[in-house]
Amino acid sequence: MPDLDLNIGEVRSSFEKALGDAKTLQELDAVRVKFTGKKGDLTLLLRSLGKLPPEERKTVGQELNALRDEIEHALEKSGRKIRDAENQQIELNEKIDVTLPSRGNSIGAFHPVMQTMHELVNIMQGLGYSVALGPEKEQDFYNFECLNIPPWHPARDMQDTFYFPDGTLLRTHTSPVQVRSMLKYGAPLRIVCPGKVYRRDNDPTHSPMFNQMEGLLIDQYVSFSELKGTMSEMFDAFFGRKLKYRFRASYFPFTEPSMELDIECVECSGHDEHCRVCHGTGWLEVAGMGMVHPNVIRAGKIDPEIYNGFAFGIGLDRMAMLKYGISDLRLLFDGNVSYLKGAE
Ligand code: DAH
Repeated sequence: MPDLDLNIGEVRSSFEKALGDAKTLQELDAVRVKFTGKKGDLTLLLRSLGKLPPEERKTVGQELNALRDEIEHALEKSGRKIRDAENQQIELNEKIDVTLPSRGNSIGAFHPVMQTMHELVNIMQGLGYSVALGPEKEQDFYNFECLNIPPWHPARDMQDTFYFPDGTLLRTHTSPVQVRSMLKYGAPLRIVCPGKVYRRDNDPTHSPMFNQMEGLLIDQYVSFSELKGTMSEMFDAFFGRKLKYRFRASYFPFTEPSMELDIECVECSGHDEHCRVCHGTGWLEVAGMGMVHPNVIRAGKIDPEIYNGFAFGIGLDRMAMLKYGISDLRLLFDGNVSYLKGAE
């Protein structure tokens, strides 16, 4: 059967060409279907075998079988080659270069107000004070009444208070921790109480939430000069130099006598009449203080005939602004990351 012989040769050479052209597994599969599929060239040849005279069937059959083995073998080999190449490409694409520099980690930092709080607390711990804390949601009793501020007292108007429906409130200052601590620890007592306080105030120079640090010393024969000495120790250490101090008579219901403390302007030391920090006055108001009122000591269940003491309150946000040269209070509360990064 010369026809069939000829076809065997044609199929072989067209298979070899098609195999050479197949570059992907998909293309290779198309080649497989074209030759060995149901209607494939080789399959058709095998089917026509029956039409041959019996004496030729054997030899042509053997030839066709050999070609089929050849094709299957070649398809398998080529499939392996393409798969290997594809895998290699994937590996190459997904390769991790361990020598590349990383994207870098941002290291967190304490907020300037927290740094200020830590520094002041540290200084005061060095003077023998302990830290005492109280709740931010406070009772009227601790925030006002036991601080010698009865309900009718005009001093309540000084502190616009956030009230809850049940009569409790957001503490307007850290002073309620004074009586809480006296009741808890008794006398003698030396504490500082840092924390958040709240007032119904919101403008460029007031935030409804801000930070204070209260100080309280209760002992026998405490004098006002000890308060003055403590203040100068604390502020000199905080600002890192010897400052000038000015105590001005003032009024707070919970102290008698009461003072406000000014320190020399840390920006211009009083030498710049256009100073943006002290506005040319040369002084900065930094704290309220005084000798603890006997009524407050009594509210703390301590005998004011035996014990006396001093107390002071400092605004931590203002301290942070002065120390770190921050001109706008709002920067402290905006959560602007690039600003906070600069504070690292
Ligand atoms: N509690 C006062 C305020 O928030 C600050 C203060 C003044 C605290 C005098 C004191 C003090 O302990 O003695 O404005």
